[in-house]
Amino acid sequence: MTDTATLGLYGLGTMGSALALNILDNGFPLYVSNRSADRVPDFLAEAQTQGLAEKLTGADSLADMVKAMPAPRAIIMMVPSGAATDSTIDALAPLLDAGDAIIDAGNSDFRETRRRTKAIEDMGLTYIGMGVSGGEEGARHGPSIMVGGSPEAWDAIRPVIEAIAAKFEGEPCAAHLGPDGAGHFVKTVHNGIEYAEMQLMAEVYGLMRYGCELDPATIGQTFERWNKGRLQSYLIEITGKVLQAVDAETGKPAVDVIVDSAGQKGTGRWTAIEAIRMGYSANMVEAGVAARAWSAERAARAVGAELFDTPRKPIELSEDVLEAALIVGRIVSYAQGFRILDAASQEFDWGVDLARTAEVWRAGCIIRSSMLDEIADAFRNDPPEGQLIFAECFVSMMKEALPCLREVVCAANTGGHAVPALASALAFMDSMRTERGTTDLIQAQRDYFGRHGFERTDGRVDQHGPWWD
Ligand SMILES: NC(=O)c1ccc[n+]([C@@H]2O[C@H](COP(=O)([O-])OP(=O)(O)OC[C@H]3O[C@@H](n4cnc5c(N)ncnc54)[C@H](OP(=O)(O)O)[C@@H]3O)[C@@H](O)[C@H]2O)c1
Repeated sequence: MTDTATLGLYGLGTMGSALALNILDNGFPLYVSNRSADRVPDFLAEAQTQGLAEKLTGADSLADMVKAMPAPRAIIMMVPSGAATDSTIDALAPLLDAGDAIIDAGNSDFRETRRRTKAIEDMGLTYIGMGVSGGEEGARHGPSIMVGGSPEAWDAIRPVIEAIAAKFEGEPCAAHLGPDGAGHFVKTVHNGIEYAEMQLMAEVYGLMRYGCELDPATIGQTFERWNKGRLQSYLIEITGKVLQAVDAETGKPAVDVIVDSAGQKGTGRWTAIEAIRMGYSANMVEAGVAARAWSAERAARAVGAELFDTPRKPIELSEDVLEAALIVGRIVSYAQGFRILDAASQEFDWGVDLARTAEVWRAGCIIRSSMLDEIADAFRNDPPEGQLIFAECFVSMMKEALPCLREVVCAANTGGHAVPALASALAFMDSMRTERGTTDLIQAQRDYFGRHGFERTDGRVDQHGPWWD
């Protein structure tokens, strides 16, 4: 593959269409196709309307598209992860020549990307796993792009990718983060952090709504104010807007006509699973996944509500205290996400640059926030034990804000409000600042029932307790 490769895009759904328009908008010629051929003329018409059809070629099928493209070719797939990606590759690979490249821009599991990279490279082709974040709007006007693949593959696609990516102070939010699955893993962890952040905000909304008895619009205004301060981020911004929106049909707050039940089958769950598999815990992500799983048990919750008294009681919490609690929650979410990234990078020998990752997330993606600049600086200065929470600026921030998080979790617990993410942040922080915890007892129990042995405080290993004398 060379930097003169012709570019194709297969999969003109929400993300594919938006990304294709973005590529055209940046002046690159593009070939497109889609499984259902009828989407192609619709897309051509849309591109025409936007004045972007000049360098666009549509094809009725994947085979026709490949045939029309001069080699070497680089084909972006924007299709659902899993079986759809595999079947697209199965159809595409035999049509390509040595030196051509396949770019998977969907939300693929990084393990599948590793497997596919090997299989495709064995065929003499190039494979790139590319995480794209920012939803439809991002894809159209500048997403955050996390690339995994060989350095040569990155060099070849770099001009296009940097042109279409979001810019932060003129710098593209796109980077080559390592080989094979690195890009998709970084995207997965991005989404894991997204789960944690959204859950934190939902909990704070719940405390204000059902504890402090404020209406959604008032809470939305508070989020709007928070967005001007330390919490500035895309998710805080849209939460402010969403909470102030009104359902045109009923005149009710928009959130009140939405069923409180969410799915959790993708990247959030993968993040939690990978963290645990590597011997870490991203309990903030787990809390986000768990809360969505509980939310989906609507029938059970209805029975629970009938069998037990309504648990939620009024509570008093100031806006400032809630803001500080959210700040700690955000720092812990990021810290855990970066810890997992670092662990995976070491396990798979990816060499992911954590500071650069933070920079790539500063614009275009869903978790973009003003804190990411400080995070990049923190990683450049090697925080103690590689832990973000021990970086100087975050230590001082947390010292100030931790008592507020404790006040919030205590009030929530007393009032019967479920706050799994806020409570997880507190448990993590309390654990990580306790030099001697209570796992000595766990080790004693394990030795008692399973003769597992333990390390003594004097350094002797494989020891047993007096219960075996
Ligand atoms: N939506 C987001 O905010 C977002 C953000 C980042 C990443 N992503 C990822 O981007 C990818 C595309 O998502 P999307 O939101 O654009 O989905 P979408 O709107 O549902 O579009 C899916 C596209 O994939 C095609 N497709 C589905 N099954 C296929 C199959 N078996 N073989 C070939 N083509 C198939 C569809 O073709 P037809 O027209 O024939 O159905 C359509 O073009 C996914 O991997 C998703 O996880 C989405």
